[in-house]
Amino acid sequence: MNKAVYPGSFDPMTLGHLDIIKRASKIFDELTVSVLDNHSKTPLFSVDERVNILKEATKDIPNVKVESFSGLLVDYAREKDFKVSIRGLRAITDLEYELQIAQTNRMLSSGALDTLFLTTAAEYSYLSSSGVKEIASFGGDILGCVPRFVADLVYAKYGIDKHDDLAGEVHNEQK
Ligand code: PNS
Repeated sequence: MNKAVYPGSFDPMTLGHLDIIKRASKIFDELTVSVLDNHSKTPLFSVDERVNILKEATKDIPNVKVESFSGLLVDYAREKDFKVSIRGLRAITDLEYELQIAQTNRMLSSGALDTLFLTTAAEYSYLSSSGVKEIASFGGDILGCVPRFVADLVYAKYGIDKHDDLAGEVHNEQK
């Protein structure tokens, strides 16, 4: 079976991530989206919450699985027999960081793990999880950045009640 892993922090998953998941799931028979359990970072969402968000967002895509991993990606990939890692490239500014990860993984795996880059859809090229968190923390509008149910969860983390705003948005969309 032709399979791949899409690793990341996904704190939280954005529409840009979802776009990459949808497109990668069409290229591979099976795509596993895997959340890095990184103890050195303090995330907004726990690993379980991030996994559940991804599961909910991808529930209609039958060949997508969601799980988490800790430690080195190459060890996890070897254990699960993933030979391809998917990453999204938003802009040239991502390239240095992404090349470093890709080359490191090729070196650490002796060439067993390759990285396949998908260019992020232009409309999502400005999106980042950290941007989403910053906007939400100040009560800004993140409805164009994440699915609605994720926006609710993000605002709840910051103790922001956006219920009225979101209801207004639904109303506007239905017009
Ligand atoms: O969404 P992110 O935070 O940009 O994803 C980065 C990720 C998870 C792909 C990368 O940090 C990773 O694979 N970390 C696991 C540890 C590892 O394998 N490090 C060596 C390669 S840099």
